[in-house]
Amino acid sequence: MDITMTDAWRALCTHAEHSADLELRSLFADDPERVGRMTLSVGDLVVDLSKNRVNPAVLADLIALAETTGVADRATAMMRGDRINSTEDRAVLHTALRAPMGQMVTLDGEDVVPGVHRVLAKMEAFTDRVRDGDWVGATGIPIETVVNIGIGGSDLGPVMAYEALAAFRHPRIRCKFVSNVDGSDLAAAVSELDPATTMFVVSSKTFTTQETLANAQSARRWLVDRLGDDAVAKHFVAVSTNADAVAGFGIDTANMFDFWDWVGGRYSMDSAIGLSLMLAIGAEAFSEMLDGFRIVDDHFVTTPLSENVPALLGLIEVWYRTFCDLPTRAVLPYSRYLHRFPAYLQQLDMESNGKRVRLDGEPVTYETGPIIWGEAGTNGQHSFHQLLHQGTTVVPTDFIVMSAPDHTNDQLTGVEAHHDLLVANCLAQSEALAFGKTAAEVAATETNPALVSHRTFPGNRPSTTIMAPSLTPSVLGQLVALYEHQVFTQGVVWGLNSFDQWGVELGKVLAAAIIPELAADHEPALNHDASTNALIRRYRAMRK
Ligand code: F6P
Repeated sequence: MDITMTDAWRALCTHAEHSADLELRSLFADDPERVGRMTLSVGDLVVDLSKNRVNPAVLADLIALAETTGVADRATAMMRGDRINSTEDRAVLHTALRAPMGQMVTLDGEDVVPGVHRVLAKMEAFTDRVRDGDWVGATGIPIETVVNIGIGGSDLGPVMAYEALAAFRHPRIRCKFVSNVDGSDLAAAVSELDPATTMFVVSSKTFTTQETLANAQSARRWLVDRLGDDAVAKHFVAVSTNADAVAGFGIDTANMFDFWDWVGGRYSMDSAIGLSLMLAIGAEAFSEMLDGFRIVDDHFVTTPLSENVPALLGLIEVWYRTFCDLPTRAVLPYSRYLHRFPAYLQQLDMESNGKRVRLDGEPVTYETGPIIWGEAGTNGQHSFHQLLHQGTTVVPTDFIVMSAPDHTNDQLTGVEAHHDLLVANCLAQSEALAFGKTAAEVAATETNPALVSHRTFPGNRPSTTIMAPSLTPSVLGQLVALYEHQVFTQGVVWGLNSFDQWGVELGKVLAAAIIPELAADHEPALNHDASTNALIRRYRAMRK
């Protein structure tokens, strides 16, 4: 279907032509009920949509667009196991990872839920042993450091959640995350580690990813050089869908935690890919996180579009990106513990919807996936917020804030009061972005007329604020599921396959060709473009 030919699309184009009318000061002044009507809840999350540049007519046409493109039907198809990832002929069943035992999700005639719970039980048994000190390393000492080796979805979700749930970590067990093939990453991680108390979790869905395998091989050498070959069994475990490759690497498949091809990498933090996280926070907290995911899954499939929080977030993003031509979205968590959340969302959103052809292979004729970026508040206020407030590009922004502080350090007197400062800053930013400060308001107090334009804030810059009581495992699960389904909604409306990632392939193939050229003993024949050939020669010369 060409959505650009639908009535809803045409109506939204007309709204966009008159978007100057969607002025937040007027929208608020004209509608005293706006905040109440546009503040929605899902689970523990309160989501204030009111500072977005939409009115009831725009929202109605966005909802019509979602209906026309079949967002609800597609969500049902995803969750019942249809092979909606058509370019890879795969089902997309990350929602089954948090299905309770007893709920049936059938794929090729088999209920996948018992398998999910079998792996969860294996993870629990293993993580309990490590946490209790019952699993000991080759020299008989309990494990203290877990090094997760993985990249992309096999890193970003676990590290984001490990950081987010710092308050829930086991006191003896810390995790480190190695992803970059830059040897400095692994070197820094192991620099002060005792091999006797270190466990490596090699996380890779395919177990073929070059960066992960290079890091895993070097980690193995580091361990074997210090503790001998036999130590590998006690210090290496794997998370993968590829048992043969795990065995080939030398990890006993009894120490492998499996998952399935129907879990996409960027949707996998609640699968066995979360093993490092479970080692840190324990099986009970991990299970609470899964409960949180489920709350939002249930909301997404049962709530009408007009009150469906992830669907509305997705539709509003479609409005900004496609109809208002706003290329980026900032995600600004006012929580230090969520400092890796923007990076996590970059993969979730940009690898899912950074696409330029539709499911049928035809090119889209409209803008799709936004550029996602962000930083924990309040640090960004003292760097890039200048552009958010007064730059020439409007950046829709998500603010995420907790009403209770995340910090637990009671040795710091007065630290409690920081939280009001943090929240005040968060609220002030969205207020300033939305309502700005007019030239007349500035002129009322500014004595130097030459400064009036410099000190004027245009306002009318949209944002969404997500507030929750505190950053618990359940709230984190709710947040992640919220964004998963937002991204899903956008992908359906744009007609994309949000579950493949062909765009990462070409670079991998070209790198594989360049690797031997960099290392060759004799000057290699080069068949790249002139620039790449010259850079390879320059690198080789510098390396001499
Ligand atoms: O190259 C992209 C990608 O395939 C991601 O989608 C994935 O999360 C990441 O690589 C890691 O893949 P794997 O878990 O198979 O090592």
